[in-house]
Amino acid sequence: DKAGHKHFMAKEIAEQPAVIGGALGHYLSEDGRQINLPGEGIDFTAINRLTMVACGTAYYACLTAKYWFEQIAGLPVDVDIASEFRYREPPVTSGTVALFVSQSGETADTLAALRYCEGRADAIVSVVNVPESSIARESDLALPIHAGVEIGVASTKAFTCQLTVLLLLALKAAQARGMISDDRLADLLSALRAMPAALNTAMERDGDFKTAARLLSTYDNALFLGRGLMYPLALEGALKLKEISYIHAEAYASGELKHGPIALIDDTMPVIVLAPCDTLFDKTVSNMQEVMARGGQIMLISDAKGAADAGEGVWQTLTMPMVDPILSPILYALPVQLLAYHTAVAKGTDVDQPRNLAKSVTVE
Ligand code: F6R
Repeated sequence: DKAGHKHFMAKEIAEQPAVIGGALGHYLSEDGRQINLPGEGIDFTAINRLTMVACGTAYYACLTAKYWFEQIAGLPVDVDIASEFRYREPPVTSGTVALFVSQSGETADTLAALRYCEGRADAIVSVVNVPESSIARESDLALPIHAGVEIGVASTKAFTCQLTVLLLLALKAAQARGMISDDRLADLLSALRAMPAALNTAMERDGDFKTAARLLSTYDNALFLGRGLMYPLALEGALKLKEISYIHAEAYASGELKHGPIALIDDTMPVIVLAPCDTLFDKTVSNMQEVMARGGQIMLISDAKGAADAGEGVWQTLTMPMVDPILSPILYALPVQLLAYHTAVAKGTDVDQPRNLAKSVTVE
């Protein structure tokens, strides 16, 4: 049942405010000020490393979480693609928690990586959407994301729910390790509780995304750029666009632009820049100027302040509500999803069942 939407993907994008709100309800105390993990949780004071493993979009959720765990909780994090991790024979030293992220909980490579960590890591934790799945069952602690059934092959609501649960986990780690003040924690939790409303506000701009997507649908290539927390999201944006619209898209950390990809820039290569107005914004503005000086067209996804500070020459601007920069990946997932969705619709591709792809990859 698509609940009045043209595609499951559109329905699942639209469900995000509700399911994120629901996930927060499962993990926060009634007054919204305490983070509660099921069972005995994780003793973040007893560990010195987190090793995160996943595939595809779930891997990008892990890359995002690395910034959170390291910046907020001071906990070193390794992130790996499951198919690489499992065959590299990486040392898993004592004091390591191994964390696996999977919507289906059945991805073959992720499950094999989990089994490799059994008996090596201090504890096996998973962040899953299907609580009865193999990955959940074989974990010491399974943290459900409560996204509800996801049918569209391209993951959307599972990604933002994964981010929500991983951010809560990073905040819990920061609290346990004495890395965050009570006030800052309370501020971030209240900003998280306001996230469903921010997503709803952003969704009211659907017409802008549709217009931008129609333009994008006429190109064969696209480049996504982001810095800091926006870098993993740039990767996710490129993946979403290529898998459902078949437009070739790549993502780079903005600072890598001049180390190679700038050679690709001309008027046939639109550049989508994810950049809320944070402390790194000025650096991103100079990257945009480098692109524009070479005839490249910039599609900027930012907030009102960023849109104003970006200066002249930006091709398209998509304006998002202001949020605490720490939370921006959850909010900025929406424009990359909507851009990919509307581009695919404009191109007439099969949005919910892209060619060659399966929802659950149970063979390697
Ligand atoms: C992309 C997508 C895939 C999955 C990947 C992992 O939109 O959906 O990249 O994220 O196959 O799947 P799970 O999370 O089920 O392990």
